[in-house]
Amino acid sequence: MAVTQANISEAGAASDRVTRHLLADRLYHWLMAACVLTLLATAFLPIIGVKFEWLGLHWMTGVALSALVLIHIVRAVIWQDFWAMMIDRADLRNAWRRFAQTFGRKGAAPGKPGKYNVLQKLYHAGIAVLVLSIIATGLLMLLKIDTPLWRRNPYVLADYQWGWIYVVHGFAAMGLITMVMIHIYFALRPDEWRLTRSMFRGWMTRREFEEHHDRARWAADER
Ligand code: HEM
Ligand code: HEM
Repeated sequence: MAVTQANISEAGAASDRVTRHLLADRLYHWLMAACVLTLLATAFLPIIGVKFEWLGLHWMTGVALSALVLIHIVRAVIWQDFWAMMIDRADLRNAWRRFAQTFGRKGAAPGKPGKYNVLQKLYHAGIAVLVLSIIATGLLMLLKIDTPLWRRNPYVLADYQWGWIYVVHGFAAMGLITMVMIHIYFALRPDEWRLTRSMFRGWMTRREFEEHHDRARWAADER
């Protein structure tokens, strides 16, 4: 749908701000990020020679991350726009057009994204697979340690099963550290600054919204 002056003012030109992330979602992002960074630090610092009592902080942060992610999934499915983060046909078409354009082929120009572009959606899908694998294996690994709440009982699984659990946990952790580095790099680049700002303040300006998003795919100003 074309954005005309008329339908912008109909949709309420009263505010110059378009809400992008509610407070609950911003809190989730930053608490989740703090947990993931703590988990990566407590996992990898001892390996590169910084010795400290890492295990207590590691498993407790892991349990906190599991609770946060569970709440996020319930919110995303019930209250948020579930399809905003799913790759659809328009994303694939735009990705193909951009690819063709990059290699000098003539044709239709790629359209604008909805709330998230295809690379953000791919990143989210990748993180979801890695973090859910890490959580599932990590919660099982709690059976290997004594805590104030329970005593260790590693005999519920066979050795080769534990082997696989450690392989998945470790590989997912290595994938995660790479993905998080790329994510933070892009978040700190000034050309996408409006997105970073929106993860702190919750909104973007109406002009940024119109310039970078397809209103037919993300009708944020009608909510
Ligand atoms: C199967 C599991 C998951 C589902 C179904 C899911 C779904 C979604 C959806 C639909 C959104 C977009 C909401 C919107 O903007 O309207 C979203 C955003 C987001 N997701 Fe997930 N997600 C899952 C797992 C994860 C995991 C494991 C993480 C990280 C550890 C994660 C981190 C985020 C973040 C940071 C956002 C942006 C903040 C927000 O607007 O909520 N998600 N997710
Ligand atoms: C301190 C470091 C971090 C910064 C500066 C940062 C910044 C951001 C920003 C600005 C967005 C929103 C983009 C938008 O509104 O479209 C975002 C989204 C998201 N963040 Fe982070 N983040 C950080 C750490 C993390 C960590 C550690 C994870 C998880 C492992 C993570 C996972 C996500 C996910 C899954 C999304 C939603 C997908 C996307 O929009 O790309 N973030 N982050």
